[in-house]
Amino acid sequence: MNIMSIAIALHVIAIVVWVGGMFFAHQVMRPAAVKTLEPPQRLQLWVAGFKRFFPWVWVCIATVLITGLWMFFQFPKPPLFMHIMLGLGIVMMLIFFHVFFAPYNKLKKAVVDERWKDGGAALNQIRMLVGINTVVGLITIVIATAGKYFLA
Ligand code: HEM
Repeated sequence: MNIMSIAIALHVIAIVVWVGGMFFAHQVMRPAAVKTLEPPQRLQLWVAGFKRFFPWVWVCIATVLITGLWMFFQFPKPPLFMHIMLGLGIVMMLIFFHVFFAPYNKLKKAVVDERWKDGGAALNQIRMLVGINTVVGLITIVIATAGKYFLA
């Protein structure tokens, strides 16, 4: 077992946790919460959920970045799909940083103050950005895995 095998395994596990978590939140939990909960309970559920999911996202981002960059620099001339993966990965990380520091903060404050309308607006922004990041994540997975067959 060499370092490359450990790096790629950690890299892919971190991606599965991050992108799978976003897919579940956006496509499964959100419609279920809308169907069953009134805004005050729904917004509190999301704050409690994000409080548990976001620390994992930070761990995933650190893991993806460290292992990805380490692998990237093992290649004397990294192929195009790796450059695209790096670029899209950075876009995903910037989107997460924005979610974490802007609308998530607003959502937490609005829930503490019981301003449900403001909380709803912040949650809506998070929903949109997580939706975008899920799609970019899935596209990046296709490029990372199938890219070597269709990109030079
Ligand atoms: C942000 C910086 C990133 C860098 C520098 C990076 C770099 C790399 C490198 C060098 C490999 C090894 C490829 C090979 O040996 O063929 C790899 C594998 C992989 N990466 Fe990334 N990556 C990054 C982010 C991401 C993201 C955001 C995703 C998905 C959303 C992703 C998904 C994958 C997958 C699925 C593999 C396994 C590919 C395979 O072996 O078929 N990576 N990455």
